[in-house]
Amino acid sequence: MEKTFVMIKPDGVRKGLVGEVIRRFEARGLNIEALKLIRLSRKEAEELYSIHRGKAFFGELVDFVLSGPVVIMVLSGKGAVNAVRKMMGATNPKDAEPGTIRGDFALEITENIVHGADSKESAKREMPIFFGDYLDT
Ligand code: CMP
Repeated sequence: MEKTFVMIKPDGVRKGLVGEVIRRFEARGLNIEALKLIRLSRKEAEELYSIHRGKAFFGELVDFVLSGPVVIMVLSGKGAVNAVRKMMGATNPKDAEPGTIRGDFALEITENIVHGADSKESAKREMPIFFGDYLDT
């Protein structure tokens, strides 16, 4: 069964959207394989977003995800990576359709509520940063 990595960002936690976001994933039929509320270390945040290192928004992005607790999870299901991406909506909430998480709850590109792995390869890289048990998936 395909697995993917998802993080509810500090704005999602601050806005009280943890339950709503998880409810949507569960209602879709995705299984929660692992789930934690944590504060990221700078090292973890920089590793999660290492593909964006050097981009203009990297510093702001890392500072933002360190600004409060986040909820990280591994979800599984058929086509989980794509299912989660479609449910999140476009990265920039101004382009996200109503009915998607970002389209319903966000307006700003940095504060866009949720992060999800953008491919199976990204999921395989991101899960072990936080969930060592998933190293061999
Ligand atoms: P996320 O899916 O967490 O992956 C990288 C994040 O960088 C993205 O969501 C946005 O929140 C943030 N970001 C900020 N500025 C940009 C930008 N110009 N392009 C893409 N992502 C951006």
